[in-house]
Amino acid sequence: MSNPFSIVSESPEHTRAIGVELGRRLRGRDVICLSGDLGAGKTWLTGGIAQGWGAQEAVHSPTFVFIHIHHHINDPRKQLYHVDCYRLTSEADAESIGLVDLLNGDDVVILEWPERVMDLLPADRLWIDLDPDDRDPDSRRVISFSGMGKRYETLLMELRVALTSR
Ligand SMILES: Nc1ncnc2c1ncn2[C@@H]1O[C@H](COP(=O)(O)OP(=O)(O)OP(=O)(O)O)[C@@H](O)[C@H]1O
Ligand SMILES: [Mg+2]
Repeated sequence: MSNPFSIVSESPEHTRAIGVELGRRLRGRDVICLSGDLGAGKTWLTGGIAQGWGAQEAVHSPTFVFIHIHHHINDPRKQLYHVDCYRLTSEADAESIGLVDLLNGDDVVILEWPERVMDLLPADRLWIDLDPDDRDPDSRRVISFSGMGKRYETLLMELRVALTSR
């Protein structure tokens, strides 16, 4: 696993800003797993990631839709998929929404509740844990980044510098 690191977010807006820094560095085929309990901030972080990547539209919680497709503002052929796996109960479910194809496709994929589809995830992936900070669980989150594979090792090195040099 590549050098993991954590950062404390002080507010939803801060979480979004952290997401923007990550989103700016993403490219096709990147797979981002967002792990954390209900209300941890996965969708807020996704909002920032999509914004930084260049999405035309705002992010909404996909819980009832499973998948939201975002198109790049400068090149609508470029897509970012925001997938909520919370209500997926089997691999067959995942197959039926086309998740396997997405994970093997050329676009950026962000997954909430990735634990639900663990067996389908590629070995190389970025993994982000969001946890309430004991010191102020109402508004602070500890956001921990780790990655498997060379691509994410490089990405995380750059992201760490960007997030800690402010
Ligand atoms: N530092 C923070 N970062 C992100 N969200 C925060 C923070 N502090 C408080 N919050 C609140 O936590 C909630 C996070 O909601 P969000 O929809 O992003 O969670 P989620 O992890 O996507 O949950 P779900 O599993 O239900 O989809 C919001 O109500 C937000 O206002
Ligand atoms: Mg959510």
